[in-house]
Amino acid sequence: MSSPTFANTNRREPALLGQTVVVIGGSLGIGLETGRLVRAEGANVILTGRDAGRLENAAREVGAMSSVAFDATDFDRLGKFFDELSTPIDHVLVTGPGPYYAPLPEFDVDKARADVEAHLLLPLQVARNAASKVRPGGTLLFIGGTGGRRTAVGLALISALTAAKPALVKNLALELAPIRVNLIAAGFVDTPLSAAILGDQLDARRERLRATLPTRRVVGPADIAALALHLMKNTAITGATYDIDGGQQLVEG
Ligand SMILES: NC(=O)c1ccc[n+]([C@@H]2O[C@H](COP(=O)([O-])OP(=O)(O)OC[C@H]3O[C@@H](n4cnc5c(N)ncnc54)[C@H](OP(=O)(O)O)[C@@H]3O)[C@@H](O)[C@H]2O)c1
Repeated sequence: MSSPTFANTNRREPALLGQTVVVIGGSLGIGLETGRLVRAEGANVILTGRDAGRLENAAREVGAMSSVAFDATDFDRLGKFFDELSTPIDHVLVTGPGPYYAPLPEFDVDKARADVEAHLLLPLQVARNAASKVRPGGTLLFIGGTGGRRTAVGLALISALTAAKPALVKNLALELAPIRVNLIAAGFVDTPLSAAILGDQLDARRERLRATLPTRRVVGPADIAALALHLMKNTAITGATYDIDGGQQLVEG
């Protein structure tokens, strides 16, 4: 007697089929992982980053439609990148440089200025350039943090930028509508950037987070990519800041 056969009713269309996603800073960490995920969900992917070799490897691995190597904080070059896009796009994720923090005696004004360019002016420039390229309902996604919400010696600049980003995103969401604009505020994420900042303290940091975070697990780039994908798909969300830190701000202030 043969067993009955059932149709598979769980099969679904990839969520971003036919859409195009640009990842600025897509050759490592959060950007690379998001590139992988949105590609698996059917999107065409365009990756950027500064280091051409690293970018080429990432693009090959992800199966990107194209990749362009340039420094996103070179705003003329950024404008040229958007001008040269040959198709309309649906979503842009902006990652890029890490944070700058230092106590006042060591504070370097040139580094601080570069940090303001990377974390405040870059989102504005992406918004200006993407306005004519992103299809209605698509989203611009920026990455901020939850760590700079606390006060501590050395955090003056990063705290100010952390406070500014949700305000920036709300205003851009209004100005760019019906394009959506959203912010992901992350705590510690286990990426090459975190490894570079922490050096031989990385394993101890991971262990401490596993012991102290309410979630008892370390947040990885795949967690951020999953949130980014949700924000791309859910057309009800704009002007919003989404915290994703495993509850880190609840235990670290
Ligand atoms: N990791 C965390 O714990 C954490 C927490 C909160 C917020 N964030 C923020 O999230 C963003 C991404 O972090 P991540 O951990 O994924 O960093 P990551 O592992 O260092 O990856 C950064 C990516 O951006 C590219 N990039 C860096 N500077 C760039 C520039 N000026 N122009 C173009 N591309 C650039 C890098 O490639 P190239 O170096 O080749 O350019 C790389 O592909 C950063 O802005 C970071 O401050 C991270």
